[in-house]
Amino acid sequence: MFKKLTLGLLLCLMSISGFCDEGMWLPIHIKRLYNRDLQKMGLQLTPEEIYSINQSSLKDAIVSLGGFCTGEIVSNQGLMLTNHHCAFGSIQTHSSVDHDYLTDGFWAKTRSEELPNEKLYARFLVRMEDVTRQVLSAVNEEMSAKERAQATRKVMEQLKSDAEEGTHYNVQVKSFYEGNEYYLFVYETFRDVRLVGAPPSAIGKFGGDTDNWMWPRHTGDFSMFRVYMSPDGKPAEYSPNNVPLKPKHHLPVSLDGVKEGDFAMILGFPGSTDRYLTSWGIDLALSKKNPTMIKIFQTRLETLKAIMNKNPKVRIQYASKYASLSNYWKYLIGQSKGLRRLHVYEEKQAIEEKFRNWINESPERQKEYGDVLSSFKNAYESLKPQEVPFRYAALTGRLIESMRFAEEFGMLETLLEADTVNQEKVKATVKNLKESAKKFYKDYNPATDEQVFANMLRLYYENIPAGDNRPEFFKAMQKAEFSEPETASPEAFKALARYVYQNSVFTSEEKLNSFLNNPKKGIISSDPVTLATEALAPVQMRLFPAIRQAYGQLVTAKRLFIKGIREENPEKLYYPDANSTMRFTYGSVGSYSPQDAVEYNYYTTLKGVMEKEDPNNPEFTVPSKLKALYEAKDYGRYADADGTMHVGFISNNDITGGNSGSPVINGKGQLIGTAFDGNWEAMSGDIAFEPNLQRTISVDIRYTLFVIDKFAGAGHLVEEMTLVKSEPPYQCPACKKGKKCKKCRKKAKKKKRKAKK
Ligand code: ARG
Repeated sequence: MFKKLTLGLLLCLMSISGFCDEGMWLPIHIKRLYNRDLQKMGLQLTPEEIYSINQSSLKDAIVSLGGFCTGEIVSNQGLMLTNHHCAFGSIQTHSSVDHDYLTDGFWAKTRSEELPNEKLYARFLVRMEDVTRQVLSAVNEEMSAKERAQATRKVMEQLKSDAEEGTHYNVQVKSFYEGNEYYLFVYETFRDVRLVGAPPSAIGKFGGDTDNWMWPRHTGDFSMFRVYMSPDGKPAEYSPNNVPLKPKHHLPVSLDGVKEGDFAMILGFPGSTDRYLTSWGIDLALSKKNPTMIKIFQTRLETLKAIMNKNPKVRIQYASKYASLSNYWKYLIGQSKGLRRLHVYEEKQAIEEKFRNWINESPERQKEYGDVLSSFKNAYESLKPQEVPFRYAALTGRLIESMRFAEEFGMLETLLEADTVNQEKVKATVKNLKESAKKFYKDYNPATDEQVFANMLRLYYENIPAGDNRPEFFKAMQKAEFSEPETASPEAFKALARYVYQNSVFTSEEKLNSFLNNPKKGIISSDPVTLATEALAPVQMRLFPAIRQAYGQLVTAKRLFIKGIREENPEKLYYPDANSTMRFTYGSVGSYSPQDAVEYNYYTTLKGVMEKEDPNNPEFTVPSKLKALYEAKDYGRYADADGTMHVGFISNNDITGGNSGSPVINGKGQLIGTAFDGNWEAMSGDIAFEPNLQRTISVDIRYTLFVIDKFAGAGHLVEEMTLVKSEPPYQCPACKKGKKCKKCRKKAKKKKRKAKK
């Protein structure tokens, strides 16, 4: 990757259209990028117009949505745009078989119909600050990794509490470049965020999991929320008395559309990347981590799918759980493919070889960095044999819902088992658990979970050989008086699951409530679901010390590796890995060639939706209203100059998960699209950016407006926005070619002079 960066930088210096698009930059560092041809690429804003603490700037329209997605404010009344898949959980929560907003879409006709969402928040960045000096003043090179972590944590906590004092802000201090730099972030968090509208899944998730992570794409992956504040203008919990947010900035929306080579920038909250991963890390991912996780996820997905297809209630209950797991599952498959196809392992080895040679050039370097590469090697070597059993032990308990839920009850059991029971505490705990249970059971189907239990345990049994990492589990099961399956036959595991689900209090809302109404000690601890959870614990405990030690070693190695690499290449600007803080990425709209002899256009149109239509496949059904609009070419002002309806486009911006819903913004600071995905050919992009292949997939904002206005009949929302359209370029009546002939040039000049006056 670093090699590519040099090449990229070089190409960037040579070209206008820009190859220099790798990087998720901190907004306070945007100035550093301005010697990189940003203006030539088409950026017309100053750095202060993008990020400023003194005046309103683009950053004031950008929202971290619940910490997992990004949104952008598009009206002066707090209207926020994001992805359909970012709202998926909310839409699903508000849905039932009778009100199936997933299938039918949802549009609030008035403010009072907007739907509140518990726990969802909209977080704005007030300012950020480099606090590296303060944090690092607390450490020295003699400290152990543990001492260092303690010392930095103490300063970070102090900085946070100092900055929060007397304000209603939330402050975070985070490590960057693996502990080489530290930044402080001040946020204002609004907790009354209401669902305003979402298209039906046949638009918002068109193409489903089949098209997910792929281009060419025809998904209208957008939804709308509104952020509310208290009447006196402060963040507040949900209240009917709250009023729409008055934002410091909202993005104007461009009706111009995009062309190949157009400048495009994105501000958002990317979650995590691993761009400094070493060759040993890639080997672990390819040989152990990814294949194991893929297999485990796939078992759960297949089990869920079979039931969802038959049972409409389960289909809604499990829609969100299924979608997010399936998204990650496909991501891992694509990542492994990409890492192999693009020879990322070898690329990383080359970087490490260069680093090794650089270290060996001087004794000082040897002293500081001499152990770094061998630390990586040792740490990953010790992780490798643990990886598979540890994933099974950890993920099995996470992915079986009853087991995950049962973990919440540990505290209650401890309270009940105390010599003198603190009734007050028991009462409070029970109250919380009842709340939790209400939510849990709304989207829980015991019969489904029972099948997951059977199939996941069978997978565990089949893939982890008898020995320390397996038998404890089944022994514990025997203790609870069900026999260990003699063979790994599906029937044996089905019978086991049957027993557990019939006898547990966690697998029935009724049973659990009657327990909570009269909690007695011993019930939780002897519950078969608890026993299953406890049986997995020793495996994790046994593996954990070695894993913790290896990760501890990696902390120091990673910090020194990045420090060294930056020292080795002082001419290069290195950007930090994503960590859910606001980042800026710039680039341009553009096509790509995914493989030999294939070219992918940079945009898709509604025609492609009709081409993909398959009434027999729920992923590819097309709403009849959309078809009618297509046939009538009823696109209004949202059509492209060529008369077609553009749906999606791609650009070479550098984004990742968490960026979902991010605004794609043109050189004038206007919204041109909403980012929602990456492309299949560059799924290794979180580990190594691929300038020629990697693309951000976005919904063209005009398609979003078209769906809201023409399809959903919610034009009042479009009216709230600030739409802008550029004047068509001057056309000479004589030559019809713009400003080509002498006569036109003269005329154009005259017109300009007039306009100035
Ligand atoms: N791949 C997208 C992301 O991670 C999510 C797309 C959701 N769509 C779907 N069909 N699951 O941001």
